[in-house]
Amino acid sequence: MILVTGGAGFIGANFVLDWLATCGEPVVNLDKLTYAGNLENLASLARDAGHVFVRGDIGDGAAVARLLATHQPRAVVNFAAESHVDRSIHGPGDFIQTNIVGTFHLLEAVRAYWGGLAAPEQAAFRFLHVSTDEVYGSLGPGDAAFTETHRYQPNSPYSASKAASDHLVRAYHHTYGLPVLTTNCSNNYGPYHFPEKLIPLMIVNALAGKPLPVYGDGMQVRDWLYVKDHCSAIRRVLEAGRLGEVYNVGGWNEMPNIDIVNAVCRLLDELRPRADGQSYRTQISYVADRPGHDRRYAIDARKLEQELGWKPAETFESGIRKTVLWYLEHPQWVAHVQTGAYRDWVKTHYAA
Ligand code: NAD
Ligand code: DAU
Repeated sequence: MILVTGGAGFIGANFVLDWLATCGEPVVNLDKLTYAGNLENLASLARDAGHVFVRGDIGDGAAVARLLATHQPRAVVNFAAESHVDRSIHGPGDFIQTNIVGTFHLLEAVRAYWGGLAAPEQAAFRFLHVSTDEVYGSLGPGDAAFTETHRYQPNSPYSASKAASDHLVRAYHHTYGLPVLTTNCSNNYGPYHFPEKLIPLMIVNALAGKPLPVYGDGMQVRDWLYVKDHCSAIRRVLEAGRLGEVYNVGGWNEMPNIDIVNAVCRLLDELRPRADGQSYRTQISYVADRPGHDRRYAIDARKLEQELGWKPAETFESGIRKTVLWYLEHPQWVAHVQTGAYRDWVKTHYAA
């Protein structure tokens, strides 16, 4: 089996669902269930013996050590993190604690476990660290996309904390020989995305008749990838990535934020037109910019494509349509997130 951390969050939950659907290998899912952890994302697995959910903190070394000793995973995939840039600006403490200190304790527990394995299991073991393109900093309009050798230049407390965790992972390979892999991915979107992030926020605000807040001039560029393509990239890197290597993951899909917001409005105009016949675009509202806002990210994913033969399955057009449809078809998930009722799910469905 494999141990997944942060598997109740947006990408982690998509990964666990896809993992069990594609290969069926059991998953132990360690998640602290912060505000971003939502067991409703995994509701379809509530009676699946292949999924063992454990509420806990990657920073609790003793608990992680017990989990590793009990379940003897052949790999650890680390999604657990504080992930929202705006929250890191308002309160960086949790980001330092989980993303840096937590990753350190997780690595220590994994190193001790790995060190005690027999030689064949040791050789087969993998620690895959899920990271972000934000560690590379911000690009100018004409700059080449980030490659894996781009210098680290994080600009927000979030990206600085992820950069620190990447460095720890790298150091554990070089110093102790821990068999690590790191992926640095661009902006994800898709089902189960918490509506504090741009795309789901625009969808749920539009449907609720609320303003669609666009930071600054809306011309910041992000490189968007459908979440299930990120999950397939992680599976491929876990399967065939070279030890100690870093793989950038991206969809070659750079777009300014305002174009993203307009695309969401266009789809909603088509799929759920407003009662007054006006476009959802009339709800767009330019607001104060994010402090230190990175202007542009772009991922060069050639290493992953050429070395490991990975390719995204979705274009932005197909992925954003699936995403908007998913939100329209899951009003209860949205309502539970908005009212906070999703936090009761653990009590009612996972009491044992
Ligand atoms: P998320 O915020 O939706 O989910 C994070 C999950 O981690 C939650 O379930 C939360 O409860 C859990 N968690 C937080 N602190 C924990 C701790 N101390 N111990 C155990 N669990 C803890 O985040 P996401 O968007 O799914 O991102 C997952 C990972 O992917 C993160 O490492 C993030 O940096 C990285 N990433 C995200 C994106 C993106 O666009 N969302 C892009 C590239 C990389
Ligand atoms: O690049 C990968 C990163 O993408 C991940 O590492 C992060 O975990 C993930 O949250 C995401 O970070 P961003 O800051 O790019 O995502 P966010 O959805 O918060 O914002 C996307 C862009 O939209 C960004 O330029 C800020 C802007 N924005 C965001 C919100 C929430 C708005 O204009 N209005 C908004 O209300």
